[in-house]
Amino acid sequence: MIETLENKIISELISKAQIAREFAYTPYSNFKVGAALLTAEGEIYTGCNIENAAYSPGNCAERTAVFKAVSEGKTSFKAIAIIAGMDEITDYTSPCGMCRQVLREFVNPKDFFVIMAKSTDDYKIMTLEELLPMSFGPSSIQ
Ligand code: THU
Repeated sequence: MIETLENKIISELISKAQIAREFAYTPYSNFKVGAALLTAEGEIYTGCNIENAAYSPGNCAERTAVFKAVSEGKTSFKAIAIIAGMDEITDYTSPCGMCRQVLREFVNPKDFFVIMAKSTDDYKIMTLEELLPMSFGPSSIQ
């Protein structure tokens, strides 16, 4: 278990991701994703995936949560919980490459935790550094 995230906050993030997943708009894939993003200040922003008849404009749950937070002035994050599946949650879902890169913009990859959950007591945690090694970030273009 990663020491720097308390069990209580892990459970809260997963519960909020489960609730956000209920709002997933997925008429094309029926794959429903919920995410809950913890800010450095301790607030939680949630997101769901939002699909589109033209397919490409669809947005992932993780990026919905990040964009909600950033659009309200929050740009420093500690962790994100993700829960996904069709009807049953059968697997741990990891963020797609585009979402990893969007998260990377705002965090130190070594200090940001990705909680991939099947339920509040069945989850895996990895750092963003593990999921996106040798990443390209803001300092790469300075
Ligand atoms: N999706 C997410 O919301 N997050 C992920 O990390 C993986 C994929 C969404 C996009 C699309 O609406 C559906 O899941 C199937 O790919």
